[in-house]
Amino acid sequence: MSATLETVDTAPRYYQTFHPDTHAVRAELEQGLCAPNAWVPPKFLYDPLGSCLFGAITQLPEYYPTRTEQAIMARYADEIAQRVGGVGALIDLGAGDCVKAERLFGRLCPRQYVPVDISTEYLRGAVARLHAGYPGLDIVALGQDFSHTLSLPEDVLDDGRLFFYPGSSIGNWSPEQALGMLRQVREACGERGGSLLIGVDRVKDERTLVRAYDDALQVTAAFNRNLLLHLNRVLRADFALADWRHLACFDAARSRVEMHLQANAPVTVNWPGHSREFSAGETIHTECSYKYEPTDFAALLDAAGFNDIAHWTDAQGWFSVFHARA
Ligand SMILES: C[S@@+](CC[C@H](N)C(=O)[O-])C[C@H]1O[C@@H](n2cnc3c(N)ncnc32)[C@H](O)[C@@H]1O
Repeated sequence: MSATLETVDTAPRYYQTFHPDTHAVRAELEQGLCAPNAWVPPKFLYDPLGSCLFGAITQLPEYYPTRTEQAIMARYADEIAQRVGGVGALIDLGAGDCVKAERLFGRLCPRQYVPVDISTEYLRGAVARLHAGYPGLDIVALGQDFSHTLSLPEDVLDDGRLFFYPGSSIGNWSPEQALGMLRQVREACGERGGSLLIGVDRVKDERTLVRAYDDALQVTAAFNRNLLLHLNRVLRADFALADWRHLACFDAARSRVEMHLQANAPVTVNWPGHSREFSAGETIHTECSYKYEPTDFAALLDAAGFNDIAHWTDAQGWFSVFHARA
């Protein structure tokens, strides 16, 4: 009699704590929009369409971070796997389409996969696709906004946790906020062999940096302007796309690329209980992407309580991947 391989189908579990339709979310948006220098936290760039547009951005010739990070991960895959060792839960912060983590499954063989993302509908679709390909993999998906607190349910395995934070998403926080985020991750690693694998974009020439956020096809412009459609839905606001254009610039002193939406002409935007006048040329600041020198980022990891830090980079020194133990 020939043996048959049985695969146990484990249905993914979802825990959704982020809901855009709440007073707290509207209050957070109103606070930024009504500030003298208007701003919106970058997490609001990600609704279902925003997440798809980000996926398209990663395919653009100008957007070097994704392919450079991927090349580093592929080149040093054996070394990374050896350092990381046995993985219990692979916890993917800002998982998006889950594709980057999926590429690690073969080498790291996690016992559990925990994608975390604020773009909850998109996450559900990505997890359904992943489950079809890996029916035996234990998946615990978290629809969560980790800018407030990172909170893991009890069924997330607590030995050998590997936090995965790719794509230089850490650069969307100021260095002070990034330190707070890394401290949270350090805490959540626990005391049973937890660690962090993180991708960080590096300082480079201004033209390369700005083109990555202002591509010729204007996909990043669409990604940024889609934020207004998201705000219209969440706030019931009346932003008109034609009134706003995309801007990207590099602030060398702060080592960050900034994205803004700039008013083409004087415009008044209304939503229930509020209205905000914008003068021509005034902007809404929508994203920062801080760029780090490797020594500065290693110091941040150290200050957050990580140790035994390893670092890999590409031939041009454009991007860094770090592994650090809790
Ligand atoms: C730059 S994309 C990176 C996606 C993917 N990890 C990659 O590297 O290609 C940032 C991801 O983080 C998610 N995200 C942003 N802010 C978040 C927050 N505060 N809480 C949870 N997820 C967040 C977004 O929805 C998006 O999927």
